[in-house]
Amino acid sequence: MNEQAWQFKREVQDFWKKVIKRLQVPFFTLTANNLKSTTYPDLPGPLDWQKIAGERKIHVEIGSGHGEVLLANNRMKSIVVGYEIKSRFFRLSQRKTRRRDDIFVYKGSGYESLALHFKNDTISTLYILFPDPWHKKKHARRRPLTEKFFARVAQKLKKGGTIIIATDWQEYSDFIGSEVQKVTKQYEITICPYVPDDYSLPITHYHQKWARKGRSFTAFVLKKLG
Ligand SMILES: C[S@@+](CC[C@H](N)C(=O)[O-])C[C@H]1O[C@@H](n2cnc3c(N)ncnc32)[C@H](O)[C@@H]1O
Repeated sequence: MNEQAWQFKREVQDFWKKVIKRLQVPFFTLTANNLKSTTYPDLPGPLDWQKIAGERKIHVEIGSGHGEVLLANNRMKSIVVGYEIKSRFFRLSQRKTRRRDDIFVYKGSGYESLALHFKNDTISTLYILFPDPWHKKKHARRRPLTEKFFARVAQKLKKGGTIIIATDWQEYSDFIGSEVQKVTKQYEITICPYVPDDYSLPITHYHQKWARKGRSFTAFVLKKLG
């Protein structure tokens, strides 16, 4: 590129920088692609996801791991927002999904961010597949799938919206089982063997891993009552 071309490029860049500064565009009016590169601590909330989704549904996943659930999203019918706390998995998901304008991945704890980033009555489905079980006794109190969490999510779900949880860890399953019994006024609860096809979900990395070890899987489906 010659000097004249560089000069022109710089002028164009400066022009757009000034326009953006002048407009002070509120966060939720930015395009979907701008949103994709943002990490969660910078995000204000709650966001107007409905504006981005339009007529489409809004799904959320906590612990997106290798990104299988995100990639299985039907872009015509829904958008999906994934939270992943580990940098390596976050980068992996981000890389795999970067060409998709219906998938948003954030680095951070979904359990906290969910309440901040979503308005009430907006989410259709929350997926939490194979959450870390915190299997050591002294770590059990770190388990986030508590009555309090389910009550908070109930506000964010649409009427009839669901939380789908799958676990391979019996002790965690017992723990979740006792917590969900405390929110029966807010949810219709189903506990059954986990079969991904039943929810049109792909087989994820950890599902495969634990299946190879011969483990069995339990699903918790919490459907928000009206
Ligand atoms: C056992 S892996 C399951 C990954 C994926 N769902 C699957 O089925 O293959 C649990 C994932 O949850 C992520 N995770 C743990 N705590 C989290 C949190 N507070 N917010 C978001 N992701 C979290 C972990 O980094 C890990 O990728």
